Amino acid sequence: MYKAVITGVGGYVPDYILTNEELSTIVDTNDEWIVTRTGIKERRILKEGATSTLASKAIEELLLKTNTKPEEVDLLIVATVTGDMRVPSTANIIQEKLNLVNAWGFDYQAGCSGFLFGIEIVQRFVESGRYKKCILVGADMMSSITNYKDRNTCILFGDAAAAIMIEPQENSEYGIIDTQNYCNSFGGAIENLNVKRHGSAYPLNAVTELLDEHYVYQDGKKVFVKAVKGMADVVEEVMLRNKLSKDNLAWLVPHQANKRIIDAARDRAGLTEDKVMLNIQKYGNTTNATIPLCLWEYEKQLKKGDNLMLCAFGAGYTWGAAYVKWAY
Ligand SMILES: CC(C)(COP(=O)(O)OP(=O)(O)OC[C@H]1O[C@@H](n2cnc3c(N)ncnc32)[C@H](O)[C@@H]1OP(=O)(O)O)[C@@H](O)C(=O)NCCC(=O)NCCS
Repeated sequence: MYKAVITGVGGYVPDYILTNEELSTIVDTNDEWIVTRTGIKERRILKEGATSTLASKAIEELLLKTNTKPEEVDLLIVATVTGDMRVPSTANIIQEKLNLVNAWGFDYQAGCSGFLFGIEIVQRFVESGRYKKCILVGADMMSSITNYKDRNTCILFGDAAAAIMIEPQENSEYGIIDTQNYCNSFGGAIENLNVKRHGSAYPLNAVTELLDEHYVYQDGKKVFVKAVKGMADVVEEVMLRNKLSKDNLAWLVPHQANKRIIDAARDRAGLTEDKVMLNIQKYGNTTNATIPLCLWEYEKQLKKGDNLMLCAFGAGYTWGAAYVKWAY
């Protein structure tokens, strides 16, 4: 039986740093408010290019680090809410840019839980034994859908991408061990967090053009309450099912939306701060990139056999957790 094993990580963040200080010259906000409410100090912004630019750079690094030739990749899955175009998929654009001539692939989205849902998608593909070198990339140019006149949202988001290589290994004790994902709108959540325009229900016309509906809209308070419960509950569920505890869990790898949401999940898992991957202070919420970007930054601290709990919450609502045993 094949296990789906993570064998490498690559990442990319653009050079431009948008600080809280600079944001406070654009909207009515300040560093103290943003840090206290979210934990964010700064975020990165891509000045030229698109989501495929971010993703391609992350994958280039991944190929280099894993000593993989472009033609060896046989599957490319792209988690994004900011694809370059509506059609074709960003996977096609990346495939062409990087010459991944033998890879087929596609995009999908599940809000900020996209990368986590992708862990289960790729796990099923790889466990089948049919695919040998699969790339899952989480990439978002959130600045392309952020309204820099809306202080409720523009302080939160940044641009980045990170990618993992997943390969089948026979009877391995390492790899993606267990996943649990959820989708539930609770009769109204769709109105609490969305980007409407360009969807078939919200085609571009003279009226919608004036409504700012191509930007992220969020009712932060409502989302916050659900995110705290959703993420903490699902982490607890997967820990219990796999007999994980604060003593044998090496790292919590949470989606980076708000430091206070992360703290709530950490508290419920009974973990100390040093067991939580955290980079929200530097990058803000990069949507599909947050989780692999954490793996990328903490890679040197990871040890073979470490138990990792990945978790996320996002628009929809969507949420979930994945238990991964690190393989290198
Ligand atoms: C967005 C978020 C940081 C806001 O924090 P909050 O503590 O809920 O803050 P509120 O929205 O209640 O706003 C409190 C006050 O600060 C004000 N405020 C909002 N944004 C502000 C800003 N950037 N700077 C200064 N003041 C701000 C509000 O207008 C409000 O003022 P009022 O009390 O006079 O009306 C928080 O709700 C959050 O993180 N939500 C969840 C995000 C998330 O997980 N998303 C899903 C995954 S992507």
